[in-house]
Amino acid sequence: MSDAGTPPQTTLLLGQTLSFEANPFDEPLETAVRHETSGAVLIRGGVIAAVGSADTLRPLHPTARVIDYGKGLIMAGFVDAHVHYPQTAIIASWGKRLIDWLNSYTFPEEMRFASKTYASEIANRYLDLTTAHGTTTVASYCTIHPVSVDAFFEAAQARGQRVVAGKTCMDRNAPDGLQDTAQTAYDQSKQLLSNWHGVDRLDYAITPRFSPTSTPEQLEAVGALWREHPDCLMQTHLSEQTDEIDWVLGLFPDARDYLDTYEKFGLLGARGLYGHAIHLTDREKARLAEYGAGIVHCPTSNTFIGSGLFDLGGLMAQGQRVGLATDTGGGSSFSMLRTMAAAYEIGQLRHNPLHAAQLLWLATQGSARALRLDDRIGNLRGGMEADLVVLDLASTDAIAQRSAQAKDIWESIFPTIMMGDDRAIRAVWINGKAA
Ligand code: GUN
Ligand code: ZN
Repeated sequence: MSDAGTPPQTTLLLGQTLSFEANPFDEPLETAVRHETSGAVLIRGGVIAAVGSADTLRPLHPTARVIDYGKGLIMAGFVDAHVHYPQTAIIASWGKRLIDWLNSYTFPEEMRFASKTYASEIANRYLDLTTAHGTTTVASYCTIHPVSVDAFFEAAQARGQRVVAGKTCMDRNAPDGLQDTAQTAYDQSKQLLSNWHGVDRLDYAITPRFSPTSTPEQLEAVGALWREHPDCLMQTHLSEQTDEIDWVLGLFPDARDYLDTYEKFGLLGARGLYGHAIHLTDREKARLAEYGAGIVHCPTSNTFIGSGLFDLGGLMAQGQRVGLATDTGGGSSFSMLRTMAAAYEIGQLRHNPLHAAQLLWLATQGSARALRLDDRIGNLRGGMEADLVVLDLASTDAIAQRSAQAKDIWESIFPTIMMGDDRAIRAVWINGKAA
């Protein structure tokens, strides 16, 4: 915010620029993507005021502060559509499948978030790590403790960051110290929502963890809360592992399938986010498409926990609204570059090689669309919020020697997608400020 009477500072970033004009899953690259070798991005306050060629924008803004990133690639910051910030300290825990992994590593760690001090320490550590990896927005699960939600929103608010988060609700099949009830899940979520939703750049997501850890009464209660606040997102997990699905069908004998355990209680909607969604029935796919619900692909998690191969090609062909996510700490990385690489590898195993443009679209526009925030973030266009990443496309010797052979921008970017890490992040801008 500028002082009264002082116009907001104008900054001109120079470098290569990449913007999306359309979805590269639907349109040819030539019309879907706009790339400028000598591009410029004008930032005024927290907003992207203009994107164009350096030759056009420089003379129009002679007093702007200029930052020249040379061959650096300026694009929208990464949007990570499904994470668990409380799992930061247990990322890369060995050898378990989903339910054992939750019981052995995740639940004991999540108990620690009863302490606001610990929650704040991890929230800040998590946001430091993700910013260093070029991620500017995340949608995070917290724990059952309201202080874990306060800690996360406070940390993001202090950084001017756009985030989505919510209190994880669980009233069965979890340790005593990690359970609420149908009533306290409703009451605490409602209170947090009224404290945080729409404040600065923060949005609340109603967050039943997944059907096995909620009774029908709890799903009913949070479904009622969503009906009262339909502008909120709702995030949960869906059909991640086959033994999990068997468990769900045993717990909900009247349900037609896993999605039906949500649908029955009003927990299926356009602002619903369904993480993983690997083993879907035709009915589930049809219902998700009908509602335009968000499906979140978490590829490093799916290989790390051994969940299965997400059918991105099939779901995109149906017009589903798919985003991309690390799923830390079930996912094995904080990096959306590594996540794009894993999506590519899973695509290869399904005989569906994804183009670099499609991977970058998923990590920005795709996730922003799933979060229903694509009118504000996830693209480098005038009027969007100024959340940007600048990639160094020659960040290591191994990448530099490969990109030196590149014949076009895509060959130049792809080695960074496949081999890049936080060393490839040359700069990050959040809300119009260098982070
Ligand atoms: N299903 C329910 N909770 C979780 C979680 O924390 N991580 C993953 N990967 N799947 C889940
Ligand atoms: Zn998850």
